[in-house]
Amino acid sequence: MPLVITLAHQKGGVGKSTLATNLRGYFAGGGYKTALVDIDPQGSLSKLVRTFAEQQGREPEHVIERGGFQSYEDLDRMLEAYDIAVIDTPPYLSKELEAVFRFSNIVLVPCKASPLDFLAIGDTLDLIRQAQQSRPALMAAIVITMTITGTDFTTSIRRELEKSEFPVLKTEIGNRVAYMRSLLRSNTVLGDDNRKAWEEIENLGNEIIYLLQNGYDNQ
Ligand SMILES: Nc1ncnc2c1ncn2[C@@H]1O[C@H](COP(=O)(O)OP(=O)(O)O)[C@@H](O)[C@H]1O
Ligand SMILES: [Mg+2]
Repeated sequence: MPLVITLAHQKGGVGKSTLATNLRGYFAGGGYKTALVDIDPQGSLSKLVRTFAEQQGREPEHVIERGGFQSYEDLDRMLEAYDIAVIDTPPYLSKELEAVFRFSNIVLVPCKASPLDFLAIGDTLDLIRQAQQSRPALMAAIVITMTITGTDFTTSIRRELEKSEFPVLKTEIGNRVAYMRSLLRSNTVLGDDNRKAWEEIENLGNEIIYLLQNGYDNQ
């Protein structure tokens, strides 16, 4: 059975696709057989990944696009061939998202460290709560992204987010050029000169695996 990690947030621009490619890259580097799934019907992430891989003459990473499976039951079966699948989702709530939640182990919700973005997270959390009613084993966690050093927003946003029942991961993802660059390179910040971004992805990957193995209470 693969571990299925789904990135979800109803807004665009919060870092879902960036975290999805980086996490897949991190797990692949750890020797796991990984798949990156892009359920966006526009498939912008899969197109990008393919284009850059072709330009650089390398094999594209294993990407499964929306056109690559008939139904979500079909996708669930396809993923049995992998150890870890990371699913990137489009910036709106939909029945498709509900279908993906049915076979996800954990939903990771990125929250941008800005007050407006904090307010936008509620509907995504509600959809997760709804899914948990029929499947209590579905886990979820919030990750604070694009933090800017020297602002106190992050601390107050963390405090607000901690009021929900979902854990807010200790790892925070900084606002770094390395992340913007990552799609142009190997799709990850791994190997980027900026070691800080690399460490963040390592910590995030490890924290997710720890949570999946030990549950919420033993953090
Ligand atoms: N941690 C980060 N630091 C700086 N820029 C980031 C970071 N994460 C994402 N970005 C940039 O922000 C934009 C939106 O990110 P993206 O991953 O596409 O978000 P989403 O998939 O939620 O729409 C992209 O231009 C991306 O390069
Ligand atoms: Mg995206």
